[in-house]
Amino acid sequence: MQEIACHLILADESDVGVARRRARELGDEQGLLANSVEALATAVSEIARNVIVHAGRGELLLGVVRDGRRVGVVAVARDEGPGIPNVEDAMRDGYSTGNGLGLGLPSARRLVDEFEIRSAVGQGTTVTLRKWAAAASGA
Ligand SMILES: Nc1ncnc2c1ncn2[C@@H]1O[C@H](COP(=O)(O)OP(=O)(O)OP(=O)(O)O)[C@@H](O)[C@H]1O
Ligand SMILES: [Mg+2]
Repeated sequence: MQEIACHLILADESDVGVARRRARELGDEQGLLANSVEALATAVSEIARNVIVHAGRGELLLGVVRDGRRVGVVAVARDEGPGIPNVEDAMRDGYSTGNGLGLGLPSARRLVDEFEIRSAVGQGTTVTLRKWAAAASGA
């Protein structure tokens, strides 16, 4: 992450809405198209919600990334909750250990360009996602 734009503590449900709004603002600011901004904001809200629902609390970092011609937004949701015993299962549509639909993680993955999840039982979970703006034309 080249620039950290925002650091949020995720401690209760209302923080999920804040996370969504901040992601939307940053996406707009960095020139993502409207549908990409919505996709990013939705993915961020799903990973933030998972922190609250499954880990109780954690944090979210939002930042700007650049790679040559492209600029993008990165989001990292981190917690020190129970962790996920089987990440492959957790990434499957319809898999939930709670009362959810089990669509949060697989949807988030589909909505962004890059998605990474690391989890260790008893240690916690970190989800990183990136969404790029279209490359500048010409150049
Ligand atoms: N931060 C986390 N800490 C611990 N377990 C998690 C975390 N995020 C996801 N999980 C596990 O992965 C499963 C799948 O997550 P996913 O977001 O896809 O579904 P859900 O949260 O159960 O339901 P939905 O998001 O559809 O409301 C969860 O049920 C939970 O077992
Ligand atoms: Mg979820």
